[in-house]
Amino acid sequence: MLGWSLRKEKVRIREMRSEDVEEARKIAQDSWSDMATRDVGRRIIYPMRSKKIIEAYVWKEPHGCFVADVCGGIVGAAYSHAWGRMGWVGPIEVLPEFQNRGIGRALLSECENFLRSSGCEVIGVETMSHIPKNLHFYLSQGYRPDALTLIAEKPTLGKQSLELREDEKIEEVRKDPMILKEAVLTIGSKIFTGLDPFKDIKMIVEKKLGSIFVWRMGRRILGFALLHTYLKEEEGDYASIRLILVDPDHFESEKGFDALLRACENESFISGKKRVFARFPVVNSLIYKKMATNGYVIKGANIRMFKGHSFSQKGDYFVLSLAG
Ligand SMILES: CC(C)(COP(=O)(O)OP(=O)(O)OC[C@H]1O[C@@H](n2cnc3c(N)ncnc32)[C@H](O)[C@@H]1OP(=O)(O)O)[C@@H](O)C(=O)NCCC(=O)NCCS
Repeated sequence: MLGWSLRKEKVRIREMRSEDVEEARKIAQDSWSDMATRDVGRRIIYPMRSKKIIEAYVWKEPHGCFVADVCGGIVGAAYSHAWGRMGWVGPIEVLPEFQNRGIGRALLSECENFLRSSGCEVIGVETMSHIPKNLHFYLSQGYRPDALTLIAEKPTLGKQSLELREDEKIEEVRKDPMILKEAVLTIGSKIFTGLDPFKDIKMIVEKKLGSIFVWRMGRRILGFALLHTYLKEEEGDYASIRLILVDPDHFESEKGFDALLRACENESFISGKKRVFARFPVVNSLIYKKMATNGYVIKGANIRMFKGHSFSQKGDYFVLSLAG
């Protein structure tokens, strides 16, 4: 148990437990509604975050999800994600009436400690670049701006053909995620050194959050995509493409990206979603052109920031977001 003495209250940062989930949902709704209300100048009420995703985060990183506890009630929450040598933190939120007392920073610091002890050399976050407080929050903690991340949306209008050659395949991985383990690390590491999002693949399969697709040529896996379709009807009518990563060294990596993108869109349509979201960093002009010509419209933008090691990034086409 970790102790933080902030002003007069005794604030403890501790690991999140399953019985904290309902309170964590309330904190998420209150803090984001407050932030949006201040931002646009009229009352905005955010939808409750899905219980399923919070439970899945706690299942995935039981020692990496934290709450700020004041006298037995929780007032803040934060979630870490260790993706090999890269880790990321998100979401992070504090009840409005407890903000600006160092609780957010204490939660962030606990996530960073967890990620470093899990072998992460670089830690990423994504936040709204037009909110001065959020910029200060991360910049003052040593994060440096890296890229603009677009949040783009497309309506799901119907099923489209995948246009694959005979030796190419898009397959859905339903049961045994271990068959992907090696390929995920190989492909991930080519894009960012040591990037390994395998835990999220396991989480999607085990917790039934959506679908995993692979792009294969013969027996070789050359790319993969993660799609979240877990939202219940009353929670939202959209799916989110969580990741699309393809081997940047393969001469047909663009084709593989296109096929995986289409597979995600088709599955979003089949599962009854009206829209599909993708979040991707704009690291060159190609990715935006590709998404725009595919019918994606910008809905928002965040800034991606990193702390720790510098590293280079390889590949022109990927959907990758460090936002929870
Ligand atoms: C972002 C958030 C988690 C921070 O929590 P918090 O407990 O208020 O954070 P802290 O008290 O540790 O730090 C807040 C810092 O912002 C500063 N700050 C407050 N208002 C500010 C403003 N308008 N402009 C610039 N800085 C501001 C505070 O002075 C403090 O910095 P300091 O310690 O250097 O003085 C909280 O505001 C929140 O829940 N926001 C809504 C959800 C959200 O945006 N999450 C992050 C998205 S990735």
